[in-house]
Amino acid sequence: MSYKKYAYINTIGCQMNVYDSEKLAGILKSRGFEITDGMDKADIVVCNTCSIRHKAEEKAFSFLGRFAREKKKRPDLITVMAGCVAQQEGEKAFVRVPHLDIVLGTQAFSRFGQHLDALESGKKQIVDIGESHIIFEAMPDEAGFDENKISKFITIMQGCDNYCTYCVVPYVRGRERSRNHDAIVDEIKILAKNGIREITLLGQNVNSYGIKEEGISFPQLLKKVSEVEGIARIRFATSHPKDLSMELIHAIRDIDKVCKHLHLPVQSGSNKILKKMNRGYTRQTYIERIKALKKACPDIGLSTDIIVGFPSEDTKDFNDTMELLSEVGFDSIFAFAYSDRSSAPAAKFADQVDEKEKMSRLNQLLELQDIYTEKKNKALVGSKLEVLVEGESLKQRDGFLKTSDKMKQMTGRSASNKIVHFPSDTSAIGDLITIQIEEAYPHSLWGYPLGVEKNEK
Ligand code: SAH
Ligand code: SF4
Ligand code: F3S
Repeated sequence: MSYKKYAYINTIGCQMNVYDSEKLAGILKSRGFEITDGMDKADIVVCNTCSIRHKAEEKAFSFLGRFAREKKKRPDLITVMAGCVAQQEGEKAFVRVPHLDIVLGTQAFSRFGQHLDALESGKKQIVDIGESHIIFEAMPDEAGFDENKISKFITIMQGCDNYCTYCVVPYVRGRERSRNHDAIVDEIKILAKNGIREITLLGQNVNSYGIKEEGISFPQLLKKVSEVEGIARIRFATSHPKDLSMELIHAIRDIDKVCKHLHLPVQSGSNKILKKMNRGYTRQTYIERIKALKKACPDIGLSTDIIVGFPSEDTKDFNDTMELLSEVGFDSIFAFAYSDRSSAPAAKFADQVDEKEKMSRLNQLLELQDIYTEKKNKALVGSKLEVLVEGESLKQRDGFLKTSDKMKQMTGRSASNKIVHFPSDTSAIGDLITIQIEEAYPHSLWGYPLGVEKNEK
């Protein structure tokens, strides 16, 4: 009787980890494992980890730590620490998680199968934090597509050469390198053939895509990707403000499939802090780029990342950041309290900000942005937005529909990245549909598909 083997993968961290985990799943599937949601029945447990902030790192250790007892009961259970914490810790990972079988660094993913073989032949406690020039040229596993998925991430480059003083990425992901454009386009063609309608191109700084390799530029890549039949929308992350070129601004404006949304992490509104962060731009140049962008694409949705409580950030610096929110008009922000990373230079900077003060600044910033987000959303009432249908909405509301509870409430996203709920029985996942916006809330918009009559409440 054949016995089924199960694998459980826990992914912590950024979109790149989501992409990497899918590739790890592909390797496991090719070795006969079925991917499961139930960690209790898993024969192999993989944690794909993140070390960007202390909290993310702790999450990885505590998740893996919980298998210590299980491993005593079931010595055949395989536990794997993969990704950024694995790369950072190497051998040291065994100090806190002695029962680990494999420590798989960020450039070791393509060797995962090899390590599983070695484990099977009796090798113990394998650590691979070596380098590799292969990013992930493995193609998507056509059999492994989740139903209902219309959107996928795809890594186009790895690593980072920017060395922001707070950040671990250059140390855990290595030097910046770009994938070959033909391999990227081929991978996207397979995705499109399997019903994927939207793709997000990933890199720490997509604007420097291909520069080292003297290949095609990022805007040229966008053009090539836009020619793939079946792909309706292209998103990308992240752009670095210092490298946001007019060529990219024009590509966003001119290529229809490129969503009119830009995530442009500013990190701080204070020139003193930006300098200490080694970001390579000033508040003024950031604002200038935003102006050029808004001039070219007036409907552009804007989001950003902000760190509060960076060493030596005083009240004035923090106020500069608060003021930047109104000056730029972001649709949404991701804000973080600065977290000391021992491998990053800022850990040795003087004048570390008190934890309580960091949390207070974080809350003030988020509260202020909530006001702007709601205002921005309210300004959309009465407008028409094209939405890519993602599925049935988790939020069901009575009284919003003309045909009452008989009609399904669906959800999707606008090109500017707003979540839109609407009633419809005719739209299917993956459709593009125009919605007349009727109501706006801090985190979502509600409306009617054109042609569907409005419920007269
Ligand atoms: N390459 C991207 C960001 C990658 S990390 C860029 O340059 O914008 C995602 C976000 O995590 C960063 O934008 C930053 O806001 C935050 N971050 C990075 N290191 C951090 C740290 N040590 N403490 C708090 N937040 C951090
Ligand atoms: Fe980190 Fe800066 Fe590189 Fe972004 S650009 S990954 S913040 S070092
Ligand atoms: Fe985290 Fe590594 Fe991504 S540190 S944010 S998982 S690149």
